[in-house]
Amino acid sequence: MSLNQPADLLQVPTGPLKIPAQAESPEINPCPLELSLVIPTYQESENVTEIVQHLTQLLEARIPHRYELILVDDDSPDQTWKIAQTLTLQYSQLKVMRRQGERGLSTAVVRGWQVTQGEILGVIDADLQHPPETLLQLLEAIKAGADLAVASRHIEEGGVSDWSVTRRFLSRGAQLIGLLLLPGVLGRVSDPMSGYFMVRRQVLENVTLNPIGYKILLEVVARGNIRQITEVGYVFQERLEGESKVTWKQYIEYLQHLLRLRFSRWPVGRFLRFGIVGLSGVFVDIGIFYLLRTTGGLGLTRSAILSAEVAILNNFIWNDLWTFGDISRQQRGWKRGLKRFIKFNLVCLLGLILNVALVNLLFNLFGMNQYLAKLMAIALLPSGISGLISN
Ligand code: GDD
Ligand code: MN
Repeated sequence: MSLNQPADLLQVPTGPLKIPAQAESPEINPCPLELSLVIPTYQESENVTEIVQHLTQLLEARIPHRYELILVDDDSPDQTWKIAQTLTLQYSQLKVMRRQGERGLSTAVVRGWQVTQGEILGVIDADLQHPPETLLQLLEAIKAGADLAVASRHIEEGGVSDWSVTRRFLSRGAQLIGLLLLPGVLGRVSDPMSGYFMVRRQVLENVTLNPIGYKILLEVVARGNIRQITEVGYVFQERLEGESKVTWKQYIEYLQHLLRLRFSRWPVGRFLRFGIVGLSGVFVDIGIFYLLRTTGGLGLTRSAILSAEVAILNNFIWNDLWTFGDISRQQRGWKRGLKRFIKFNLVCLLGLILNVALVNLLFNLFGMNQYLAKLMAIALLPSGISGLISN
């Protein structure tokens, strides 16, 4: 890069999202960097100068020249990447990547980590909602031996400044679903939705990540070889410039991400058994519904509730004995079995209510054949899905 020319844009990695080991040889890596901090951006032209300036001031004082800032922009229409590239003239530790194909916050972070050399990998938002000062505490935590240091809004000194009740409800609700589906992952951190953390490169070396959407931390906790986690409280600030890119799409992607991680932790056999049990539940549900409506002479709603409940019982028994038999056998005793059944039922309850409501809607409002209505409701709201949660 000549003196009055901005640095070239970084090459965008392609292929698997695998984190390379730190280059050992001094030729490639003459002075090993301590920290590689990725700043994912999309439409952040009003924030990019301030965040780079703030981070440089902070890190230059703490670990002079032993850090790098990797800004990964997804071809923002406001040309955030171009402004950042100009900043490389002033900030030699700043490198810029402009992605034009792949898109998305979490893959942007991984692509940024893939081109780095730092012993510690980090991520921070560009919009100053993550107070840069917290970085120093995260850095201390890693140096003190943590594999992962997470800035959390949900511990002492944590919080959110201006979130609406809806956003708070959605965030906590998303966290609860995650805890039900992946307790072993989300249960390890108080703020699994955080997009602000540092992780020791070693625990991700040669690990192929496969995130979707916003929640890169989920992927790191689920796939990294992480032993010790430290959390640091921070207050999520108000966004002063630009706006949040979070839409319903990110929530759907979050659920997809959870299911992908959930299923990825299952051997194929368990996956198949789970599918077979779910299918058996469909036949049980429809069969009992038919019997209750024809021979039992029961009303539509009661038949729909009872048949769904029998299907839930069917799915629970087969999942507990067969699909997850290896896990439930470690939790012996009728009390623990009953506890699992009650948990299974509680989780199915919402599905059951929606299922029965949908049968009524399709039958009474749209005049659909009752058995077709029941089949549609099962297809859209399978009670078997709760098997994901039962273990
Ligand atoms: N490269 C890239 N591509 N960056 C993106 C994209 C994208 O598709 N979408 C958002 N970003 C960048 C934004 O420019 C910003 O720097 C950061 O990711 C966070 O995006 P926001 O849209 O501001 O997210 P938020 O403030 O609503 O949510 C934040 O807080 C959540 C809780 O911590 C984000 O940090 C989330 O990741 C986090 O889960
Ligand atoms: Mn934000």
